[in-house]
Amino acid sequence: MEPEINASISSATRQQVYRIYLDYLETAETKRRWSVFNDVPWDNLDFGKATSDVGDRIEIYCTEELYVPDYSSEVRGLLRSLFGFAWSQTAWAFEESRHGLAFREYLTRSGLRWTAQFEALEDRIFSKRWHLPFRTARQMACYGALWESATFVAYGVQRIKARSAGDEVLEAIFFHVGRDEAAHAGFYRSIVQLELDCDRERTIADLARVLSRFKMPGDGLIPNYRSRLLNSGAGISPRSFLVRVVWPLLTTLEISREEMKGAMKKHAPLTVSNERGGISV
Ligand SMILES: [Fe+2]
Ligand SMILES: [Fe+2]
Repeated sequence: MEPEINASISSATRQQVYRIYLDYLETAETKRRWSVFNDVPWDNLDFGKATSDVGDRIEIYCTEELYVPDYSSEVRGLLRSLFGFAWSQTAWAFEESRHGLAFREYLTRSGLRWTAQFEALEDRIFSKRWHLPFRTARQMACYGALWESATFVAYGVQRIKARSAGDEVLEAIFFHVGRDEAAHAGFYRSIVQLELDCDRERTIADLARVLSRFKMPGDGLIPNYRSRLLNSGAGISPRSFLVRVVWPLLTTLEISREEMKGAMKKHAPLTVSNERGGISV
C-alpha cells in the first residue's frame, strides 16, 4: 500500500511540529533518560517472584515491543519528508528498543525463558511483518496517541502488581518504561492538538476513523493475542480503555463525547466495538 504523501500536514505547521519534537527530546535527554544496566536493580532479582504467570505477561509485552524495526521503518517511510516528525520517530524507536531489551533481560536473567526459547520466539516474531494501520500522518498521530496511552495504562497496572508481589526489579522496569510511554502519548497528543488547531473538522473525522478501527499493534500479529492478554492478566478491559484512554484524550483535546459520537456516525458508521477491534464512545 502506497502511503499518501503527507497532505494532511501543511508546510505552515512544520515548524510547530519541529518545536514539539525539540521539547520532547529536551525532556527526554534532561529528565527521562534511564539505563537498562544502571537503573534496574538486577542484583535484587528474586527468582521466587518470577512465576510462570509473570513470564507469560512479560513475553507478550516483550514480543509487541520487539516489532520496533517494523514500526520505525514503516512510520519513518510515511513521515520522512517531515523533519520534526521523522526525527521524533528516530528518538522514539530507540526508546522502544530499550523497552524490549529490558523485558528480554528480565525473562532471561530470571530463568523464565532460556536463550534457545528466545531465539525461537524471535524467529516467530520476525516471520510476520507489522504494516501501517492508517495511511496519513494525521491518522497515525491519532493512532499513536491511543496506542501509547493504552500501553501506559497497561504498564501502570503491571507496576502495581509487581509492587504488590514484592518484585523490585519488575517494578523498576515498569516505572521507567511506563514513564516513556506517557511521554510518547503526550507527543502524539500534541501533534493531534496541532492538527485540530489547523483543521478541527478533518482531524475529528480522522480520530473517529481511527477509534472505530482501533486495535493494538500485536492484535493480529501475535498468535492468540487477545486470549493471551485476557488469560495472563496483561490486558486492559474495553471499559478501562474507554475510561482511562479515550475519554481523557477527548477531554484534553476539548472534544465532547457528543461531537465524537456524531463524527463516528458520519465517518465510520459501520464499525463499532467488536472482535476485530474498534471502540464506540
Ligand atoms: Fe514501549
Ligand atoms: Fe511507546
